[in-house]
Amino acid sequence: MKTIGVLTSGGDAPGMNAAVRAVVRTAIDMGMTVKGIRRGYNGLIEGDIVDLDIRSVSDIIHRGGTVLYTARSPKFKTEEGMKAAIENCKKYGIEGIVVIGGDGSYRGARDLSLNGIPCVGIPGTIDNDISSTDYTIGFDTAMNTAMEMVDRIRDTAQSHFRCSVVEVMGRRAGYIALHTGIAVGATAVLVPEIEWDINEVIAKIEKTKKTGKQHFIIVVAEGVGGVEDIAKQIQDATGIESRATILGHVQRGGRPTVRDRVMATRMGYAAVELLNQGIGNRVICARSGEIYNTDIYEALNMTKTMDKQVYEVANTTSI
Ligand code: ADP
Ligand code: F6P
Repeated sequence: MKTIGVLTSGGDAPGMNAAVRAVVRTAIDMGMTVKGIRRGYNGLIEGDIVDLDIRSVSDIIHRGGTVLYTARSPKFKTEEGMKAAIENCKKYGIEGIVVIGGDGSYRGARDLSLNGIPCVGIPGTIDNDISSTDYTIGFDTAMNTAMEMVDRIRDTAQSHFRCSVVEVMGRRAGYIALHTGIAVGATAVLVPEIEWDINEVIAKIEKTKKTGKQHFIIVVAEGVGGVEDIAKQIQDATGIESRATILGHVQRGGRPTVRDRVMATRMGYAAVELLNQGIGNRVICARSGEIYNTDIYEALNMTKTMDKQVYEVANTTSI
């Protein structure tokens, strides 16, 4: 391939910029030119496409968000949207695309590949909910941010002998909640993947209180929701003053951690290596710290299950 495109799609994630930088510099090193497609698939449909050179990706490795902007593009799922996207690929000479995003973006990449534009996906989402990979770009930064925020909440909860019920992001997945919950020593972690019972949470708070504990943190995934209600039920049942906090988008922004920068850079390199060999329809994945790639169709058909043992570790140690 002589010219490839790169785009970021779906929810932004810290580390996406490091991946874009790696894609651009690797491709140029391999003798290709690179087009930056802005605003995800919308930019492909509308021709919002810019040339990227070595210097256009300077000073971005440490920045959150995505310099290419991102979008959710319902139009891309239509026949008309796909037609416009393909026409623009031809117009700009784009022969292959690196798509950085989540499962939805992978589906778009699969459709583009089927229509003759080979794509390679890179997992970019704070939720870590992509089945084909152990790790997604942005997850580490989001967890570290959530941990820092909960540490701050703990200071005030501890000062007032309160229970703080904190919602972290993850509409369909509880990975941020589970890992943050362990890192902050939460009394309970509630995730959408595992059944829970408010009476058990209350019983655990009561039991822990008897051992001398005076403040409590409950971490709740967005997909479980209802933190105000959970806090009220805890307060009503235990008499412990309770407060609810929704951390929200603070978890999506900020400087990427070393882990996110390194993984993004390695994945960006791996994606371009494939396109340079004319190989598309693949997604990059991480397993046991190594970088692999797998067929995009297979990736979309895999399922990821939460490790119940890790959940058990969280519950056992938070007493
Ligand atoms: P993520 O990539 O983070 O999962 P979304 O699910 O919002 O985010 O998907 C991002 C974009 O990918 C969508 O706005 C749409 O343009 C494209 N996309 C999502 N699902 C499909 C699908 N089933 N077929 C084709 N394109 C899709
Ligand atoms: O997929 C990343 C994520 O931040 C989820 O954790 C969250 O449910 C969702 O995106 C929120 O998306 P937005 O606020 O951009 O619509």
